[in-house]
Amino acid sequence: MKIKKFILPLLSAGALVAAMTAFAPAVFADGYERGERGDSEERGESEGRNGRNGGRIIPPADNAAYKQECSSCHFLYQPGLLPARSWEAVMGATGKHFGEDLALDEATVKELLAYLTANGADKQTNRRSTRIAASIDSSSAPTRITEVPYMVKEHRKIKKETFSRPSIKTFSNCGACHTKGAEGNFEEDFVKIPKN
Ligand code: HEC
Ligand code: HEC
Repeated sequence: MKIKKFILPLLSAGALVAAMTAFAPAVFADGYERGERGDSEERGESEGRNGRNGGRIIPPADNAAYKQECSSCHFLYQPGLLPARSWEAVMGATGKHFGEDLALDEATVKELLAYLTANGADKQTNRRSTRIAASIDSSSAPTRITEVPYMVKEHRKIKKETFSRPSIKTFSNCGACHTKGAEGNFEEDFVKIPKN
């Protein structure tokens, strides 16, 4: 009797696993979680995980002045998220920065500008930056990462209401959903959209 009691749950556990395996593809095919991304060809490629090498990681910000001056109000955007000409536009208007006066002295502006332009999306070899740069018309220099065509496309399935959840607030708040965003890792596996 004891043996039967033990085997029965085991059998049903086995059946459950079999059933889950059978249904799993259907479940995961839903929404943007798996598939439907239109760029699955990208996944099959063998490439380094490291950004300097054609991989998918955007090199994290590594300049002390940049970290100091540009992270107090928002996510510390990696230089590889905008092309050099966009950073020129951003750094050319620090007195009127999206409604804020950053009050930076000339030497600091010069240092940040040099750092940002040297590491802009158009100077990088990682796939994310390359795609960002390629998606922007050469005659335009967007100052918002969130208006870059590649970014808009990658986030098109997210509803406006999702971005305005209290813990997210805005599309500009990359770190709210990209748990490894600060490391320049925006991979799907590390995306977690907060429920509230
Ligand atoms: C005093 C606060 C403050 C500081 C300091 C600051 N920013 Fe901003 N930044 C803002 C605000 C406000 C916005 C607009 C955010 C929004 O609309 O949600 C913004 C937006 C941005 C955006 C566009 C983000 C998007 O929506 O795609 C970039 C790029 C940016 N800042 C770069 C910088 C850089 C570079 C520095 C350092 C030189 C810097 N910021 C320092 C307040 C600040
Ligand atoms: C509301 C949550 C949310 C916010 C905020 C957000 N993202 Fe995303 N992001 C996502 C989701 C979801 C995807 C799609 C994941 C997938 O299917 O690969 C995505 C995809 C991406 C991708 C493409 C990754 C890939 O695997 O193809 C990049 C790059 C990216 N986001 C960067 C950013 C940056 C930079 C910011 C801030 C300016 C930002 N995201 C803000 C949720 C968010």
